[in-house]
Amino acid sequence: MTLFDAALAARANAYVPYSRFRVGAAIRCPDGSVHAGCNVENVAYPQGTCAEAGAIAAMVASGRTTIVEVLVVADGPELVTPCGGCRQKLAEFADPEVPVILADLGGERVRTTIGALLPGAFAPAHLAGSGQ
Ligand code: THU
Repeated sequence: MTLFDAALAARANAYVPYSRFRVGAAIRCPDGSVHAGCNVENVAYPQGTCAEAGAIAAMVASGRTTIVEVLVVADGPELVTPCGGCRQKLAEFADPEVPVILADLGGERVRTTIGALLPGAFAPAHLAGSGQ
């Protein structure tokens, strides 16, 4: 299954009674496996989760922790990029050169990278040496 098809299928199940804005995300791992997620909103708005977070949770639940490709699909006046929090979540499992593909319902539109989306990401190296 392509990342686009997986993300689109997950997007169809997005739970978005508040924003009505459906997002799908899909992640590929080094073994070729694909893990998808959709946004899941909540009446307590801050408890809602993004599509990328759902895809990451599915990947980790499957026993994998390395991302080699990401795709996000939504339908709006502009292509959707991962929010700031999701950029950090993705960076936990993806090297800076990992491609992030932005898609609309017509297909893939823009290719960027984790490093371009989140330069200077907070990383494990920042924790090293902390005595506290
Ligand atoms: N959303 C995502 O799922 N991923 C993004 O990268 C941007 C925003 C969701 C969160 C919320 O459910 C809706 O889009 C509107 O913000």
